[in-house]
Amino acid sequence: MEWHNDGFLITDERDRVDLDFVVRMLGSSYWASGRSREIVARSVANSLCFSLFGPGRQVGFARVVTDQATFAWICDVIIDPDYRHQGLGSWLLECLTEHPLLKGMQQLLRTRDAHSFYATFGFVACDCLCRKVPGLPASRRYDE
Ligand SMILES: CC(C)(COP(=O)(O)OP(=O)(O)OC[C@H]1O[C@@H](n2cnc3c(N)ncnc32)[C@H](O)[C@@H]1OP(=O)(O)O)[C@@H](O)C(=O)NCCC(=O)NCCS
Repeated sequence: MEWHNDGFLITDERDRVDLDFVVRMLGSSYWASGRSREIVARSVANSLCFSLFGPGRQVGFARVVTDQATFAWICDVIIDPDYRHQGLGSWLLECLTEHPLLKGMQQLLRTRDAHSFYATFGFVACDCLCRKVPGLPASRRYDE
């Protein structure tokens, strides 16, 4: 699927993901800075990916892990710092949450500080358990 708005494009075509961009953006994030290129590539290959393109290049990314039946885990939501605070992150979340494969399904995510951003889309705090894996290398960690 593709969505267009004012010169920007969002696509769910995995082949269009600019892996260099995603690796660079996640490398600067608080939750995935230790993730290797190989691990990022594997996560992309096994997720429903949403890529946001501005003039000439990718400027945003998000991915979803889902069984396409009962739940969808939203992760690695990130907008290039040069393009933040223009409504693009909200548009990306809007397209993602309303995607035909995900709409009406239990959608989950973790965030350290963007609760108000996600609250706009109906996300509220909920309990869940997390199994701690001793010695998990930084390249495999998921600490959103
Ligand atoms: C969070 C993020 C995806 C939002 O993208 P964006 O394009 O700036 O989003 P929008 O312009 O649609 O909306 C921004 C609004 O979200 C709200 N917001 C809440 N928490 C926020 C946070 N932690 N970071 C940025 N915005 C936040 C603010 O109200 C902000 O309004 P403002 O622009 O007036 O300050 C982007 O800031 C980003 O990539 N941040 C770094 C990565 C990150 O924290 N991702 C989420 C991890 S769960």
